[in-house]
Formats: sequence, C-alpha cells, structure tokens
Amino acid sequence: MNLVVIGAQWGDEGKGKIVDFLAERADVIVRYSGGANAGHTIVHGDITYKLHLVPSGIIYPDRKVILGIGMVIDPQALFGELDTLAGQGIDWKDRVFIADRAHLVLPRYREIDLETEKKRRRPIGTTGRGIGVAYAMKSARDGIRIADLYDEEAFASYLPEDREYLLPYKDKLRGMVVDMPVFMHRHEGQVILFEGAQGTLLDLDLGTYPFVSSGMSCAAGAVAGSGIGPRKIDKILGVFKAYSTRVGNGPFPSEFRKEDSELENTIRSVGREYGVTTGRPRRCGYLDLVALKYACLVNSIDGLVLTHLDVYDQMDAIQVCTAYEVDGKHITDFPASISVLNKAKPVTQSFHGWKKPIGNTAFFDELPVQAREYIAFIEEFTKTQVDIVSVGYERRKTIVRRSPWTLS
Ligand code: GDP
Ligand code: IMO
Ligand code: MG
Repeated sequence: MNLVVIGAQWGDEGKGKIVDFLAERADVIVRYSGGANAGHTIVHGDITYKLHLVPSGIIYPDRKVILGIGMVIDPQALFGELDTLAGQGIDWKDRVFIADRAHLVLPRYREIDLETEKKRRRPIGTTGRGIGVAYAMKSARDGIRIADLYDEEAFASYLPEDREYLLPYKDKLRGMVVDMPVFMHRHEGQVILFEGAQGTLLDLDLGTYPFVSSGMSCAAGAVAGSGIGPRKIDKILGVFKAYSTRVGNGPFPSEFRKEDSELENTIRSVGREYGVTTGRPRRCGYLDLVALKYACLVNSIDGLVLTHLDVYDQMDAIQVCTAYEVDGKHITDFPASISVLNKAKPVTQSFHGWKKPIGNTAFFDELPVQAREYIAFIEEFTKTQVDIVSVGYERRKTIVRRSPWTLS
C-alpha cells in the first residue's frame, strides 16, 4: 500500500508526529520534496528528535527510509543530522537510502539565499537553507545531482571549490545511494509511507506565490519526487492543526489581529509554536476553512488528520474562518492574488470550548461533544472526513477513528 501524508496548511501541521505514529505499520518511509528547510518533531519520553532531511520513520527500528528524487539535499546538514540521531541512540546504518537523481545543496547556495532575501523588495522570510537556489539551479539545468558525483565527466566540469567541497561526500554517501525507481519497484507491494514536507499553501504551484517554498509539497509531489506513477497512490491524508500557523512572510487571512494577542500568546505557548529550523515564533490564527477546503480539493485528500486539538482545552470559545470578506463581498474559493488575500478579512463562526483536558482520550466517541461538533463542522465544510485526531505531541496521544490502512 502507498499512503501519502501531506501538510494541508502552511507547514508545521504535525506531519512528523503523524508519520512516526503511522510508521509502526510501514516498511519504507519516503521523503519526496524540500530539504533542510523542513523541521519535523517527534517526542518520545524525554527525547525530542528534530528531523530536517531524514524521514520521520527512522525512529522506528528496522524501517527503511529514503530521501527522494524531488528533494534538495545539503550533505553537511544530512551528516550532522545523522550524527545527532546516532547520539540519541538511533542506529541508522544500512537503512538510510538516497535517490541518485536528487539534487545537492552547496554552501554557496545558502549564502545566495540570504543575500537574495536582503535584496528582495518583498522578502519571503526563507529559512536561509539554500532551498530556492537549489531548485532554481535544478530548473536552469545547472544543478548537481547525487549521481553526478560519480560521473567523472560531470564532476570534472564543476568549479574547483565545489569539487573540493564535494569530494569527501562522494565516499560518505556512496553506500546509501540508490536508483530510486528501481528501489521503489523492488519494494512494490510493501507498505510505503510518503512523508510530505512544508504544506499545500507553501507549494510552488498551488501556494501563496511568491511567498512559498520551491518544492512540490502537494500530494502530486509524492509521485513526481519518488519515481512512481500517479496510479500507484492508494490514499492521501492531509494533516492540519485545529488553528493555523505560518512562519515567514506572506498573506495569512485568518491571522490573529492585535485584539487577539492574548489568544495568540496562549496558543503560541501551549502549542509551542516556534520554528524547528529557525526558532522563529510562528504567526498564529484561526483555523482557515477556506484554505483547508482548497487543500482538500487540490490534493484529493481522502482523509484528514486533525492535530493540536488539545491546545484548545482551556478556551471558552473557538472561532473558525468560514469565508473571506473582500471589498464587501464574501468569498469561499481560495484566491490566487496576493493583493486579494492581503485585503481579505476573516468571516468567523464561533463554537463552544470544552474546558477540560482531552490528552488522555483513547476513542473518538469519548471526545467532549463540543470537540465533536467542531470536527463535524469541519467535515461538512470540507466534505472530507477526519480520520485521525491528535491530542498531544506524544505518539500515544493519537485517536484513530477510521483506519488509514483501509482503502476508502
Ligand atoms: P511538522 O513540520 O508538520 O512535522 O510539524 P513540526 O514538528 O514543525 O511542528 C509541530 C509541533 O507540534 C511539534 O512541536 C510537535 O511535537 C507538536 N505536536 C504535534 N502534534 C501535536 C498535538 O496534537 N498536540 C500538541 N500539543 N502538539 C503537537
Ligand atoms: P515543515 O516540513 C513551515 C517557509 C519559510 C518561508 C518559505 C520559504 O517543517 O512543515 P524556504 O527556506 O523554503 O525557501 O522558505 O517557506 N517554510 C516552512 N514553513 N514549515 C516548513 O516545513 C517550511 N519550509 C519552508 O518559513 O516562509
Ligand atoms: Mg515543521
């Protein structure tokens, strides 16, 4: 079975936690887009794992993980991450694979990323990891792929300083490099989990361009970025938070206004809303159903995974954005124009809070009626069922309402 897990908002929805949870049943976990701009957190007991390049399945012993074709890989960051994992007791040897068609991120890409940001009239607020530069080089056909490290003619054509930098990685990477389409074909019939990075609204084509990342973070990226055809995907899960967050610049119609600063502070501290990669405080806002419905549509999401519901435990009321008011009119289709999105005021609907901790709830029907009403409204609006509810960052704080492993 091939199961895709993507972010349905602006990233940081809790994909890492959910992929780790689902990895129990998986044989192989694939990352297919982005690079070290991603930050996926998994918490087990006292240990917090922060993954940027390595798929979240690595925490489960014996699972194979592969960094896919659609990724841009910074070798220095990768080995730093693998060393940290080893220091945390994760034996990653012989189960981390890398697609030979994936592109490399060089140190100078990071510098160009930061310099370009300084010069931009509308800075994006990138993570400074050289991601956009690597994808631009790839599109311009000036990129360096992993496979090219082992192609003498290609390697000889690179700048001397690039060759010098890359030389030690040739040997360090060698044992992990695979031909990914062959690898995927060999594992056909096994349980394969595709871990999205970023989120739909940060996707280069579908997101709030130019305030996006540069990879294919949508569900289609899972096929383009891993060397399989679209018909092979069995199911797509979209992860979203009970509220919204965004890191960096760009439109965010349901963002909390000044008068909501108390609510924002509560959510930021209870939900620990600080970027994993940059440590920046995340911008917070109401759940945006206009954006979520769009994400369901453009990814053909089969089931939703609602995370961070526990963050609302102490709230009297919960508001959700159901439309945008633009020039006196209500719109419910997510617009392409940044000016329209910047003008949009959220139209909100209020729900009763449940005012009790839900972190130890094991079954969906045991959730407070107010929480179930909130979920029912989301399902009705998006026409998509909520299959999993996450009520805490620990693996066990996950309520499965409909098995992700059955085909709908
Ligand atoms: P990702 O990029 O989508 O993997 O998400 P991040 O790891 O960047 O951010 C999600 C944060 O929320 C992490 O600190 C997780 O430990 C935490 N988290 C995930 N699910 C839940 C949840 O249901 N409740 C709470 N309170 N925290 C969660
Ligand atoms: P995960 O996988 C949240 C944002 C950056 C910036 C924009 C472009 O953890 O959900 P980039 O460095 O990619 O060129 O920056 O995209 N961004 C993310 N925001 N979660 C992420 O990944 C992100 N990856 C990139 O903050 O606004
Ligand atoms: Mg993250």
